[in-house]
Amino acid sequence: MANELPDRLVSGRHRPEDDSVLDRALRPRTLDELIGQDQIRDNLRLMIQAARARGEALDHVLFYGPPGLGKTTLSHIIGNEMQSNVRVTSGPAIERPGDLAAILTNLRARDVLFIDEIHRLNRAVEEILYPAMEDYAVDIVIGKGPAARSVRLKLPPITVVGATTRLALISAPLRARFGAVFRVDFYPVEALEQIIARAARLLETPIDPEALHLIAQRARGTPRVALRLFKRARDYAQVKGEGHITATLADEALALLGIDALGLDDLDRRVLRAIIEKFGGGPVGLETLAASVSEESDTIADVVEPYLLQLGFLERTARGRSATPRAYAHLGIPYVPPAQPNLL
Ligand SMILES: Nc1ncnc2c1ncn2[C@@H]1O[C@H](COP(=O)(O)OP(=O)(O)OP(=O)(O)O)[C@@H](O)[C@H]1O
Ligand SMILES: [Mg+2]
Repeated sequence: MANELPDRLVSGRHRPEDDSVLDRALRPRTLDELIGQDQIRDNLRLMIQAARARGEALDHVLFYGPPGLGKTTLSHIIGNEMQSNVRVTSGPAIERPGDLAAILTNLRARDVLFIDEIHRLNRAVEEILYPAMEDYAVDIVIGKGPAARSVRLKLPPITVVGATTRLALISAPLRARFGAVFRVDFYPVEALEQIIARAARLLETPIDPEALHLIAQRARGTPRVALRLFKRARDYAQVKGEGHITATLADEALALLGIDALGLDDLDRRVLRAIIEKFGGGPVGLETLAASVSEESDTIADVVEPYLLQLGFLERTARGRSATPRAYAHLGIPYVPPAQPNLL
């Protein structure tokens, strides 16, 4: 059911509660505070140092990867490290070319324009972005009909930072205008442990190392999920214990939320079960699969699938998605290999 999504704790997707004062306090502000993503950090550090030494705007940067891995966080870190302002907008929020032109002409030298969900910019708006990124200029049309003429306005040097969960949906000309393209990846368990430990420290919540490990293991490689699970465990420990998060309390808290040992929740298991029980293990197309579990295909593609692929529970081919023997094992369903054509 689509309306189940807002309550889905393990979805990497952003939820309104993620904007709380508490969440803002937990957000790393500098490259030094950033945990994990070493390659991105090292590259950004170098680019920023060089741009600052030259007194120039940083080159345009594109981040792509599943929700909740730190794309927005990284864009604010860039602003901080460049000591410049960050103007935040998103693909769906900019409806007309004039809206983007207005934003661009109000930026100051070395400002960062962060465009979230950049794959959802419409074509006409995207075309305003090309000269802005390439020549620091905006072309606007003045007047109507035969008297109309195009005027080029110079912009100060600025940095466009784009974020997307779908790199494949970014047009080639837009992609070509980014000086650096970074894939933000799932985090290893150790990095998630550090992220939770940092949050526990900032919130003055005592937590055992075993509990840290247990929560990190069930966080789907995603900092946003790790922080949410930590907060639920913290509530649980406060009500059922003395506020100190032990492994037992963390385990009970997550069990209460229906999250299993690998961090899968009810929707993940329903998707796997559907592939196995309704479609003989697959392959099944995305739309058919989404309809069979009454979910939106975007949700399946953005939040369910990436993690199941990462676990090796799903395989994606041109013909659709198939469940692997590991998925059968996790659900306790005996694996029956698909019938092989008789070659004799
Ligand atoms: N490397 C990190 N270290 C510590 N905390 C992090 C890190 N990356 C992300 N977080 C935390 O995880 C949460 C989600 O990060 P963020 O909002 O940047 O993700 P996102 O990739 O922009 O997600 P979306 O695709 O939904 O926009 C934030 O609350 C942030 O504090
Ligand atoms: Mg974001």
